[in-house]
Amino acid sequence: MALHTDAAPVSSLSVHRGRVLTFTADPGAHGSPDSYEYFEDGLLIIADGRIAEVGPAGALLAKLPRDQPITNHGKRLLLPGFIDTHIHYPQTDVIASGGEQLLDWLERYTFPEERKFANAAHAAEVAEFFLDELLRNGTTTAMVFCTVHRASVEAFFKSAARRDLRMVAGKVLMDRNSPDYLRDTASGGNRDTRELIERWHGQLRLSYAITPRFAPTSTDIQLESAGRIAREYPSVYIHSHLAENQAEIEWVKELYPTARSYLDVYDRQGLVRERAIYAHCIYLDDEDRARMGQSGAAAAFCPSSNLYLGSGLFSISAADQAGMRFSIATDVGGGSSFSMLRTMSDAYKVCQLNRDPVSSLRAFYLSTLGGARCLGLEHRIGRFTPGAEADFIVLDLEATPLLARRTASSSTLQEKLLVLMTLGDDRAIESTYILGKLTHKRVAPREAMPDNRS
Ligand code: GUN
Ligand code: ZN
Repeated sequence: MALHTDAAPVSSLSVHRGRVLTFTADPGAHGSPDSYEYFEDGLLIIADGRIAEVGPAGALLAKLPRDQPITNHGKRLLLPGFIDTHIHYPQTDVIASGGEQLLDWLERYTFPEERKFANAAHAAEVAEFFLDELLRNGTTTAMVFCTVHRASVEAFFKSAARRDLRMVAGKVLMDRNSPDYLRDTASGGNRDTRELIERWHGQLRLSYAITPRFAPTSTDIQLESAGRIAREYPSVYIHSHLAENQAEIEWVKELYPTARSYLDVYDRQGLVRERAIYAHCIYLDDEDRARMGQSGAAAAFCPSSNLYLGSGLFSISAADQAGMRFSIATDVGGGSSFSMLRTMSDAYKVCQLNRDPVSSLRAFYLSTLGGARCLGLEHRIGRFTPGAEADFIVLDLEATPLLARRTASSSTLQEKLLVLMTLGDDRAIESTYILGKLTHKRVAPREAMPDNRS
């Protein structure tokens, strides 16, 4: 994109100065230095909500008019906004409900909470809180489960549309093995999904995902109907859960005795393809992983949820060997934080347990450009490249005393990023910009209250 054109007068530019990091490729297991661009003193130039140019401040400043206002972020790090490829907005109030593994956790906490989303006012209130929380944590795009209720989808998309966010979401399909109050039917789910696609898919920055909850709560007839819709609407996403928990997998074997594997239950209905995201994918065999890789479907690695629910350890080396794409996701409310920084830290620990270390560079890639690639959106988000949408965040590497101290004692970019993802959380997100507009600014921590006790 040209910096100065007649159509875009200089005054429509906004210019940000600071440390700038953007990935161009997957850094892989060893953090390849060819996978990113980093400018210690960089400039990010935005015109009409899109990236116009990025590069070293020295060279780019010379091209700008003398009176061009510049927002100087000093030593802060400018990064494309985080992309969370699997999260449930109706589970905002389920976080930290403990003591159970997946199937009991669903029955005891999750289903009763999701029931409330039949009420449009409740759904609207939670959607607003949820999106505020994403932005506070620097997440600018997410792939989102709603509930079985149409009202939950309407509320979510309306709230995201008002904020001009790039979001992917869908109505949950579940026509068996669930409480009456959360069950749809194959025909009702089919009708609702089609109507919601027509209403929302491609509106503003919104996309629709066909969302069967998981194989145990859908009949084969419902999955078949979902596959038919997926074929009719190739640009629509598919979003579900897969191979998360041992008891779940045994149940799928009983329910689908003729399927070769859990993945095959979805595959034989045409639900394994580009733009399909499957959360967890812990217990796949090599044939499943190869099939995921060859089909273009992607896994959402949800380390915090997998630890919290005691589900198991996702193997990134097995995924790499099979050529299976994956990105990092929170899975709130099985996951215990909205923060992608904290989720990266959990990913690092899971990979350590697998003797499969993940570099800090790769963790940041997986949470930005890697997520965009899994969604087929790398030309729009996840990277500072001319023409891309200017959703970006400003990270404060000195947000807490300990973070400041460890940042000061680390030297390379890799080390600083590892410190940031290990010690950082929402406090490190100084600001979040959507299409170049400031949308969240961290409130300064309150002064410590004077201690009046004598
Ligand atoms: N499998 C089916 N539904 C869910 C859910 O809501 N959360 C998680 N983590 N796994 C699931
Ligand atoms: Zn989930």
